[in-house]
Amino acid sequence: MDTVAVHAGQTRPGPEGSVVYPIYQGTVYTTVLGQDYHDIRYLRLNSTPSQIHLHGRLAALEGAPAALATSSGMAALTSVLHSLLGAGDHLLASDCLYGGTHDFLVEHAARLGWTCTVVDPHRPDTWAAALTPATRAFLVETITNPLIRVPPLREVVAFARGHELTSVVDNTFASPVNLRPLALGFDLVVHSATKYLNGHSDLVAGCVAGGTELIERVRRTVNLYGGTLDPHAGFLLARGLKTLAVRVRAQNHNALSLARFLRGHPRVAQVSHPGLDDHPDHAHAAELLSGFGGMLSLRLAAGGVIAADAFLAALRIATLAPSLGGVETLVTRPAVTSHAGMGPAGRARFGIAEDLIRVSCGIEDAADLVEDFARALDEG
Ligand SMILES: Cc1ncc(COP(=O)(O)O)c(C=O)c1O
Repeated sequence: MDTVAVHAGQTRPGPEGSVVYPIYQGTVYTTVLGQDYHDIRYLRLNSTPSQIHLHGRLAALEGAPAALATSSGMAALTSVLHSLLGAGDHLLASDCLYGGTHDFLVEHAARLGWTCTVVDPHRPDTWAAALTPATRAFLVETITNPLIRVPPLREVVAFARGHELTSVVDNTFASPVNLRPLALGFDLVVHSATKYLNGHSDLVAGCVAGGTELIERVRRTVNLYGGTLDPHAGFLLARGLKTLAVRVRAQNHNALSLARFLRGHPRVAQVSHPGLDDHPDHAHAAELLSGFGGMLSLRLAAGGVIAADAFLAALRIATLAPSLGGVETLVTRPAVTSHAGMGPAGRARFGIAEDLIRVSCGIEDAADLVEDFARALDEG
């Protein structure tokens, strides 16, 4: 993966011999008389040189025949759903999804004439009952946000195949370093490239990877809805990808070190990280994943939201901010950020406590992070 991240999909030599692929900012390219419409090179149509270069890099990382970059993770996700579903169609979706995905399904799916049933991704025995003759796709996340659970992904693929559904997985939290879902048999992989793929908290982008035919369908949707990635952001993303494997390995290490420390602390009641041997998904996560990821969540033993906020305020290395996957450690309380849109009843239904704290580990020294959390637990 280290070598793939640096070299795969690279044009060698690059234009003018450049080792780093340049930014082609031009929106349009000269045509020749009689040229087919489909061969036109225009930025929104995802057909210009920097875009094609980036798509090759993204495909290589996911081990996919094809990939596409989009203007955000939500653009990737909504473009996939628009490509797979039409009015009257039905979607099966995990009950533990990123808040924005959840809100889109709750607030907008009905307007588009889609119906959606949420299922517990850990209860394969309940999925068949949720099927309708109009079910077309099954949407899950590899590591769920914010509860940090790992669903039985092989069962999702087998179920989708058995019922002729397109299986879609949001692989943002695992990143292709820890899991390549297409190898498990998923049809489409979606990312918020804003997170691990870029890794520096300085751009918003998305990515979809999969088979050539499906990606062509998604590309057509993106081209028409206009969720194309700008070449400057694409350049930053292509740069970030080169260090993906090193960064994610450091983040895996930091999250496991921090989770082990927190589990043994008397002020901490609960820690969720799939690398801990008492995590409910530890056994199958160990079989599925190459690394357990850089994310963890925790709850303090007492004091609820007030104690959680005091603890967050006392951290000095970790920054209070609602994103993830960057080189800096970020902490947030999902009830007031990523999952605020669900409301208290929705959160309670899906087991997201108001005082749950989510941690996205960066690449700082693990001992420094542990010391920061230890001090904040003493002071906060
Ligand atoms: C798992 C997951 N998927 C998708 C998204 C949406 O990504 P973006 O903010 O790039 O649109 C996020 C954002 O936090 C996320 O955490």
